[in-house]
This record gives sequence, structure tokens and C-alpha cells, in this order.
Amino acid sequence: MKGKAGWSIAVIVLAGSGSLTAAAAEQGQKPGAPPSLKLGPTARRGEYLVRIGGCNDCHTPWEMGSQGPAPDMSRMLSGHPEQPELPTAPALPSGPWSVTMTATHTAFSGPWGTSFTANLTPDKETGLGNWTERNFLEAMRNGRHLGRGRLILPPMPWFNLAPATDSDLKAIWAYLRSIPAIRNRVPDPLPDVAAASAAPGPAGTR
Ligand code: HEC
Repeated sequence: MKGKAGWSIAVIVLAGSGSLTAAAAEQGQKPGAPPSLKLGPTARRGEYLVRIGGCNDCHTPWEMGSQGPAPDMSRMLSGHPEQPELPTAPALPSGPWSVTMTATHTAFSGPWGTSFTANLTPDKETGLGNWTERNFLEAMRNGRHLGRGRLILPPMPWFNLAPATDSDLKAIWAYLRSIPAIRNRVPDPLPDVAAASAAPGPAGTR
């Protein structure tokens, strides 16, 4: 499983996090740190929602541990690691397989291009430090970056969060404000490999 290249073909269902959490549970993993007692009630509820919402499945880099792959909680919710730099995602074979992801569970390549999970920690330059609560609520409701920008790409399941109550989204936000800031600059998404290789220019792989 731990290859030297960053990409491994993975069986993932775009429905999102359930399959990843189930895989960890099968291996006896308990993703997520114990509940933090120093948090106030709102942030504590947010911590609970983040845990059952599977945010760590994609926003915390996974690594191989003694009992199999698990999220590295020392980098909790810091998004796709800026280092090491990844090679370009492999072109997919024809057929029903449509997505690849890295062993870290943080970079995904499919028909939409390549996406990298955001740094959700309060770091001002590389995380959500400069976001407002409103930006967060609108992003989760509208599926647009910061609530109004470009479309948020798969496999971010924002549409599952869209019907959440204001108080639940505010609780998640309060929790995300309370976690340690981690400096990690996540790359911007890349365009679709197949579309890019079909365009005139350097020969593509398919
Ligand atoms: C299946 C993987 C996956 C899961 C689970 C997931 N995310 Fe994401 N998330 C992503 C990806 C990939 C991106 C980057 C998308 C992009 O660049 O358009 C992202 C981006 C984001 C962003 C930035 C949106 C923006 O406006 O730029 C926020 C905030 C976010 N996720 C919050 C969450 C929260 C909170 C949870 C848990 C409830 C969660 N995510 C669960 C994959 C996931």
C-alpha cells in the first residue's frame, strides 16, 4: 500500500466519507482524538459534528500506522500536505473506474480535475484564519468557495452540510476556530487531465 509514488488507484465512492471511516473501523482504528474537555459547549458540539461528519477522513492526512492507515492527528484538519510535491495524477484507464486518490486521502483526481482538501485550521495565511462565520455558512450552503466564488469541487460533500441548521454549522465553525493553527499551504485545484491532454500541446497519455 505504501508505494513510492504518491498516487494509488482507490475504490472510492463519491458519496463521501462513509466508506473511508468504515475501512478504518474494520481495522480496529478509532479515528479522532478524545473529546476535548477544555472546549465550551458550542465548540464541543462542533467537535462531535466534525467527528461524525467525517471531516478528518479527507482534511487530515492519513498515514500508515502499525494497524493500517489512519489519520495523523498531529496534522489534524490541516488539509492536503504541501510537501512532498505530488507527481501529476495518472490518467485513468477506460472503463468504469473514475477516480484516483493519494494514500493521504487528501488529493483526488477525477473527471473534475484534481482537487486538494483545504486547510481548515485557523492559520491566517494558509487556513481559514481570515474567514468569517458567514463565509463558512455560505460556503457550506451554496457550494461555492468562501460562499460566493468558484464551485467547490468533489469530493467535498458540502451538499450534505447544506441542510444543517444554522446552530449546527455555527458549532462546527466554533470548533474549527478552536483547533491548533497549522501552517500548510494547499495547492490550487488543477484542470482535468484528460481534457488537458486532449488539447493541442505536449502529448498526453490518453
Ligand atoms: C470525501 C472528502 C471530504 C470530506 C469527507 C470533507 N471534505 Fe471538505 N473538502 C474536500 C475537498 C477535496 C475540498 C477542496 C475542494 C475544492 O478545492 O474545490 C474541500 C474543501 C472544504 C472547505 C473549503 C471550501 C471553500 O470555500 O474553499 C471547507 C470549509 C470544508 N471542506 C469543510 C469540510 C467540513 C466541515 C467537513 C466535515 C463535515 C468536510 N469538509 C468533509 C473534501 C472533503
